[in-house]
Amino acid sequence: MTTASLPTPGPSTDGALLELRSIRKRFGAIEALRDVTFSIAAGEVVALLGDNGAGKSTLVKIISGGLEPTSGEVVFEGVPRHFGSPAEAKAAGIETVYQDLSLCTNVDVVANFFMGREITKRVLGIPVLDERRMREETARALEDGGTRIPSLRTHVEHLSGGQRQAIELNRFVHWGGKLVLLDEPFAALGVEQTRRGLEMIDRVRQRGIGVVLITHIMAQAFAIADRIVVMRQGAVAGDLATRDTSPDEVVHMITGEIETVGTRNP
Ligand SMILES: Nc1ncnc2c1ncn2[C@@H]1O[C@H](COP(=O)(O)OP(=O)(O)OP(=O)(O)O)[C@@H](O)[C@H]1O
Ligand SMILES: [Mg+2]
Repeated sequence: MTTASLPTPGPSTDGALLELRSIRKRFGAIEALRDVTFSIAAGEVVALLGDNGAGKSTLVKIISGGLEPTSGEVVFEGVPRHFGSPAEAKAAGIETVYQDLSLCTNVDVVANFFMGREITKRVLGIPVLDERRMREETARALEDGGTRIPSLRTHVEHLSGGQRQAIELNRFVHWGGKLVLLDEPFAALGVEQTRRGLEMIDRVRQRGIGVVLITHIMAQAFAIADRIVVMRQGAVAGDLATRDTSPDEVVHMITGEIETVGTRNP
């Protein structure tokens, strides 16, 4: 991990961008999360692995304001936070990227990039959209992110899943996002698009953004993550630097054949 040239994150107790402290989440009788402690630094990629129902999506929804924890604390940039909605988390710089959900498919790439942040100019005293400036800024941002889209005038409905993800990630970086949560972003993508997606994550990391990647594919986790966190039955079953573990060991942590490894909350 390179941290030397990264922008300084806000005040923090120990350099963590985000910390979850003893998070519990109950859905009636189901304990989806039991005493989860988790942290991520700026510029770090954490792969979150675990079997179906282990609690990964629940954890991500708590970080992104989609769910409130039953108990425990969410600390973002050193400050305890209560995100009451995804919009509140987003305003703080936390965003979830799904494959297709958050772009408007019936307008073009530029309109999506500037959704809610449109630039206007005055023509004869009347405010009109400054299409040229928005197009130029979008083109520059996509180029900086290493993303090539054939035409920015293409309606998003005609773009592939991978191109849509790339636009979302670029948009997030452009507007000053700090932590991005990816819940199985490559599940529907082909080999080449997945490779590009992993490259995008690397670029996002180099800009000092934290990335949580939920994936069921071990090779993706080992290809990109600085750290691997394994969830099992609502608890953290392993939390290790990628270089200190192996796919075999991670499989054993997922299935429960070995006990909790390297976690701060055994
Ligand atoms: N809204 C809900 N109401 C009731 N139970 C829920 C709700 N959301 C999740 N659960 C339960 O919480 C547990 C954790 O679910 P979660 O979706 O976090 O798993 P996951 O690790 O993301 O699994 P997958 O890999 O299948 O996506 C499961 O037992 C699930 O049934
Ligand atoms: Mg899930």
